[in-house]
Amino acid sequence: MDSPQAVHLGPRKKRPRQMGTSGATTPHDIRFQDLVLFILEKKMGTTRRAFLMELARRKGFRVENELSDSVTHIVAENNSASDVLEWLQLQNIKASSELELLDISWLIDCMGAGKPVEMTGRHQLVVRSSSLSPVPGSQNVPAPAVQKISQYACQRRTTLNNHNQLFTDAFDILAENDEFRENEGSCLVFMRAASVLKSLPFPIISMKDTEGLPCLGDKVKCIIEGIIEDGESSEVKAVLNDERYKSFKLFTSVFGVGLKTAEKWFRMGFRTLSKIKSDKSLKFTHMQKAGLSNGLSGFLYYEDLVSCVNRAEAEAISVLVKEAVATFLPDALVTMTGGFRRGKMTGHDVDFLITSSEATEEEEQQLLHKVTDFWRQQGLLLYCDLIESTFEKFKLPSRKVDALDHFQKCFLILKLHHGRVRGEQSGQQEGKGWKAIRVDLVMCPYECRAFALLGWTGSRQFERDLRRYATHERKMILDNHALYDKTKRAFLEAESEEEIFAHLGLDYIEPWERNA
Ligand code: CTP
Ligand code: MN
Ligand code: MN
Repeated sequence: MDSPQAVHLGPRKKRPRQMGTSGATTPHDIRFQDLVLFILEKKMGTTRRAFLMELARRKGFRVENELSDSVTHIVAENNSASDVLEWLQLQNIKASSELELLDISWLIDCMGAGKPVEMTGRHQLVVRSSSLSPVPGSQNVPAPAVQKISQYACQRRTTLNNHNQLFTDAFDILAENDEFRENEGSCLVFMRAASVLKSLPFPIISMKDTEGLPCLGDKVKCIIEGIIEDGESSEVKAVLNDERYKSFKLFTSVFGVGLKTAEKWFRMGFRTLSKIKSDKSLKFTHMQKAGLSNGLSGFLYYEDLVSCVNRAEAEAISVLVKEAVATFLPDALVTMTGGFRRGKMTGHDVDFLITSSEATEEEEQQLLHKVTDFWRQQGLLLYCDLIESTFEKFKLPSRKVDALDHFQKCFLILKLHHGRVRGEQSGQQEGKGWKAIRVDLVMCPYECRAFALLGWTGSRQFERDLRRYATHERKMILDNHALYDKTKRAFLEAESEEEIFAHLGLDYIEPWERNA
């Protein structure tokens, strides 16, 4: 984890020559006139502060010794935003809304770049609403206009740089356990808590850091407290040892096995996959047979499918899909969606959205059939479940947050030869020379492409909150096909994801910031 605490720059112990807090040093040319920095001494110490001030000045930054109205950027280390604000209030300093509160990592990045770098969520100290209450004794200093973290994931930027994995892993497990037990309410509570923590630009170190955050009820806070105190959660430990959780986790790892089948196998007393596979009385769906092995030697597909797809493999699949699609519809657009579009390095499958502005309805309907037949002839199609479109134009979008869409799609298992993967030579590997990869292809009408792209990029939590936001905050209904404005009684068209966000009155969130 790259928490700010891990960053060390320059000597902490060694005393730099002739430098005190007064900062009386040789003058340097100021190259960046727009910025006036102030480095907070609290929790940083005099020596390190002096060192950083001198370094920044040498790079052409204007750094003030004292905090004044002219300061535009406050840089702090090992302080949360509430710590900094509290300090400001105690100093009786009026902090304007333009004042930037930044973590030391921003200054360090600036030093590396030799110029001011863009301030991202990673650098900005975010302030929680409750920390704005005036500190007793301070004379009601107006707090800076700071942004409160939204309860909706679509109003937060969630990159893959998770500062709170210790906590989010715990809540992901608790949510999954509730999903297995069909406790929908509790599942949602844990999923939302994990999602909020994933968006924080700082690690939670004490309970004070959780003040004012949305979606953290008493149950959730209790678990956070346990983890802060013991480094682990007793609730999570209990779940990980739970017979039902362990069995469901194992069973649902098989492609085609959902809660219903897992429940059945668990009730029948099964605890291992080998017992299930060798049981003569059990009937498997076509999908489950593929998931379990498809009669080939042992767990051939199973092993491949539980081991995640990496980016090189996803890129190789992308080439395979684009080549096949271009054979039949040269103008078609093929976009990788899902987790890989959000910048993930691994995934459980590779998702693609396909659309064409030129194709006739007939050609559009035929494409997935032609592509899968093409792979079947080449022996690359290990499993194929093609679902025809049930899409109807001008049908009202679905109100359900988890509703499936109506596009034509196929859920596949493809054979990916090692030779097609960059960095892997064929014949280099031991074994069968290929890997089974789960692939989802979705074909959508050209007018729907922006909605389909937004819907298939995920994450699931991001999608849920987009729809919840549309319904509750905008009186609109959003799904993978369309956006409907109930007030205007009209469909709102969009050519791009940006336009959909704009219709919803939301700031645009890039795909890699949707890892909620
Ligand atoms: N999705 C959907 N309808 C489905 C399946 C998926 O709209 N029937 C959307 C979901 O919003 C999801 C996205 O498509 O976020 C991708 O789905 P999936 O592959 O299950 O999840 P990923 O986020 O890609 O995660 P992973 O990397 O594990 O595949
Ligand atoms: Mn996916
Ligand atoms: Mn998928």
